[in-house]
This record gives sequence, structure tokens and C-alpha cells, in this order.
Amino acid sequence: MFALVLVGGFGTRLRPLTEHTPKQMLPICGVPMIEWVVSHLADHGIEEIGLALGYRPDAFLAAYPDGRIAGIPYKVAVEPEARGTAGAIRFAALEMELNEPFLVLNGDVLTDLDIGALLSFHQEREAEATIALQAVADPSRFGVVTTSDDGRVREFIEKPPANSSPSNTINAGTYVLNPSVIARIPDTRPVSIERETFPKMALAETLFALESDTYWLDTGTPKQFLEANLDVLHGRRRAKPELPVAAVDATAQVEDSVIGTGSHIDAEAVIQRSVLFNDCRVSRGATIIDSVLSENVYVGEGATIEGSVIGLGERIEAGSQIVDQSRPAP
Ligand code: GTP
Repeated sequence: MFALVLVGGFGTRLRPLTEHTPKQMLPICGVPMIEWVVSHLADHGIEEIGLALGYRPDAFLAAYPDGRIAGIPYKVAVEPEARGTAGAIRFAALEMELNEPFLVLNGDVLTDLDIGALLSFHQEREAEATIALQAVADPSRFGVVTTSDDGRVREFIEKPPANSSPSNTINAGTYVLNPSVIARIPDTRPVSIERETFPKMALAETLFALESDTYWLDTGTPKQFLEANLDVLHGRRRAKPELPVAAVDATAQVEDSVIGTGSHIDAEAVIQRSVLFNDCRVSRGATIIDSVLSENVYVGEGATIEGSVIGLGERIEAGSQIVDQSRPAP
């Protein structure tokens, strides 16, 4: 089976991390997010993938010049302009001549979903499309789905107002689509599969959904991106990569954090629940808590960074207090 991974979004909620790097090329414990997604597909027998590219496509092509990601060969379709999720699927499916049912994945979701079970369910129900569902505590940020007993989707409501959600099962961002879905997507404007195509298919009663309770995380916000890193660090995922190698002074305190390769942490610095990309410098006595620092960030002596996201190459002067801020790259 062919899997199309959507990786063309702007990733605005993760700015400034995504100002220079597409979301799926950001590191999760030192390994680009796309490799986590593709390795999971490989574990479930997927042998070829397509990347639906839009924002900064060159980052992917430069990182995987031999045409393989995590050992799996990939094709690309590069959209000339943003087309939305359904528009991206249509564009790539036509470019890649997909004439059989295929998988679609949001490239910013990390999951241990059983893909084989989703495919079998799709075939048994003779569905036109099947969505993987996940139960979450707060469904208001997602597409909420209700189904009948046989799994046919009754309602698909994108981001319902808080406390008015008809269920807590949400669209988990992995789908099986028959090629007939492509004809449902207009090509004259951007189209969202979540807001437009799926609600219409629910009305046509051709859309099915299967709930799973495996590991699942949407990495779209700084808090969730941090969580993705800490989940790997604490072994909440099956796979655990070798952690990056950084130089940490013996008197520094580093807890629940990922420090990128080539970074230096000086004496008496304190780092908690944070992710530092490669080549950062944290000077003596600085404190970093609940934050993400992009590559090559300099933090001066005694500075404090808390609940913040710092962009590529930023310089935080000695003694600064950065709290709940996003600092764009210079
Ligand atoms: P935000 O701007 O922070 O909402 O992030 P995003 O641009 O990634 O949007 P969102 O999280 O809703 O996207 C879900 C998935 O679809 C991600 O993997 C995106 O890369 C992808 N995506 C969103 N829009 C497009 C698009 O127009 N083209 C392509 N190829 N992928 C898209």
C-alpha cells in the first residue's frame, strides 16, 4: 500500500521554530519528525511513500538526497501554492497516479496506530474512506467524529466550541482513501479535507471510522512538541533513538530535557523540561524551563527562559528574563 504524508503546511503555531525549517524536519530527540512517521509506516509493511510538499520543500530533498527516508523510497509532489489538506491530497494523487486505495497521514502526528487493522476495517466495511479515531480529554481543538455501531460516520464536526462536543473521539489524522475521493475535491480553490470533504462524505454515508487507544500525539504546538520529545525520552514510545551528544558541565542540572549535539551547558546552569536543538550555548548560571531553543541559540550568564520558544541563532543577553514569549529568529 502507498502512503501519502502531508508535510506542506506552514506550521505557524510552532513559529519561530518553523521559520527556517518545516515542522516535520524539526528534531524529536535528535531525529527529524518525518523519520519517526516513516519508520512507523515501515514497521507496518508500507514499502513506498509520497510526500505532499508545499512550504520549504528543499529542506526534505536536501536531507534525503538518495530518495529514501528511514530506508523507504519516497516520491514528491510540490504544490505551487497552498491548497489545503484536501487540495494537497488531490494534487499529489494525480501527480503520483494513485489508482488504488491509499493511506494519507498528517505528517505532524506521532502514533503507534495499527495500520493493518485500519486497512482491514476499510475493506470489510467497503468504505469509500476510513478515518482513524482517537479519544482525547479536550476534543475542542480537533475534528470530532460520531459513528453508528458499525463504524459509519454520522457527524464530522471540525473544532466544536468547548463543552458542546457530541463525543470525545477525534480525527487522528490517518486515513484510508479510495481514489474516488479525489473526484470530490474541487481544484479551483484551497480545500480542507477536515472542514469540507469529510463532512460531505458523512452526509453521503460513505465515510467510516475506527477508534484506537494507542499512543497518539499531535505535535502542532510548542507544548505538544515538547511533550513529543519527553515521551521519547521517558520511553513512552516503543522506539528510542540514541540521544544526541552534548557537553554538560558537571555542576549544571539537566532534568527531563533533550540537549542537541554540539551544545554546551556551562557550570551551574539549570535546564528542566526543555528541548535545545544543536549547537546551543547556555552560559553559567542560566535557567531554562519548559522551553524550546532552536539551533545555535546563545543564552548569556544568569539569563532565565521559561515557557518560551526561541528562534534559530537568537542571542539572549546575560541577565535577561524571557517568560512566555516566542522570540523570532533575527
Ligand atoms: P499551523 O499553521 O500551525 O496550523 O500548522 P500546519 O500548517 O502544519 O497546519 P495543520 O497542523 O492543520 O496541518 C496538518 C497537516 O497537514 C500537517 O502535516 C501539515 O504539514 C499538512 N498541511 C496543511 N496544509 C497543507 C497544504 O496546503 N499542503 C500540504 N502539502 N500539506 C498541508
